[in-house]
Amino acid sequence: MPTPVFLDCDPGHDDAFALWLAAGNPDLKLLGITTVGGNGRLSQTTFNARVVATVAGIHGVPIAAGADKPLTRVLTTAPHIHGGSALDGPALPEPQVEVDPRGAVGLLRELITASAEPVTILATGPLTNIALLARVHPEVLGNVADIVWMGGSTGRGNVTPYAEFNSWVDPEAVAVVLDSAPPFTMVGLNVTHQALATTEVLDRLAEVGNATSVFGVELLRFYTASYQAAQGMAAPPLHDPVAVALVARPELVDTVHTRLDVEVHGTETAGATSVELCGQPSRPANARVAVQLDVAGFWDEVEAAIRVLR
Ligand code: RIB
Ligand code: CA
Repeated sequence: MPTPVFLDCDPGHDDAFALWLAAGNPDLKLLGITTVGGNGRLSQTTFNARVVATVAGIHGVPIAAGADKPLTRVLTTAPHIHGGSALDGPALPEPQVEVDPRGAVGLLRELITASAEPVTILATGPLTNIALLARVHPEVLGNVADIVWMGGSTGRGNVTPYAEFNSWVDPEAVAVVLDSAPPFTMVGLNVTHQALATTEVLDRLAEVGNATSVFGVELLRFYTASYQAAQGMAAPPLHDPVAVALVARPELVDTVHTRLDVEVHGTETAGATSVELCGQPSRPANARVAVQLDVAGFWDEVEAAIRVLR
């Protein structure tokens, strides 16, 4: 029986692969997609989610727009990584998927409540939409099996020395979600930096030869150049699909159950995720934290999902 999942994202090059893996993996049933301001403005991430679904021939999965800014902060986007459209590289086709009028919180609430099985929320952007859901409709979390978030890090950040982008954009949202105490899993940079889209990976995905793989490889060529210029990395980390792979094939990602907190006040440290990894946590454990990735198995799942799409 496939695991029901719901993707909240900010496409975003790596979000595109997360969406394709969530839609293409046979062990997952993608119920819906919501978008949030993050890599781009909300209008861009919403348009891009519709494009990514269109390219792959994904129909019948509602896409609703969510928060256009963090809970309290001004939105900062990431054009230096994702370009001016937040999905630079390939020409973007006119989407064939409309925007669902229910809005992100409405769609999350309706589809999660209606699910016969508890739903796993896959969050690959700032947690603003999920925080709003937890605040406005806390009862919905009763049918949430897990919130698996690509964000944070057990080590250094990628925006500041201490903070990863999704956490840094809206640390207050991370705190709200953690305080609402749902099942929560953090898939941070410490693991996603093992998922490097090397030239071998691009060649392998290009071999698939369908429309999704052609579009995806063009995305990765742009994404590679961005990471080389911005962070001096030869191959870019494909962060977001790692969170999806953890749900599709749990054996691919090792996790520890421990204490996770987020810094919201620090001048230098806002967005830092504090993870206790030395022995018994000093405070009650509240999250699973990813610590190791089966890299070969991960790319097998990415390739297999793209193969079944258009
Ligand atoms: O720090 C990486 C994360 O921030 C990824 O989810 C990327 O898409 C951006 O949202
Ligand atoms: Ca993202």
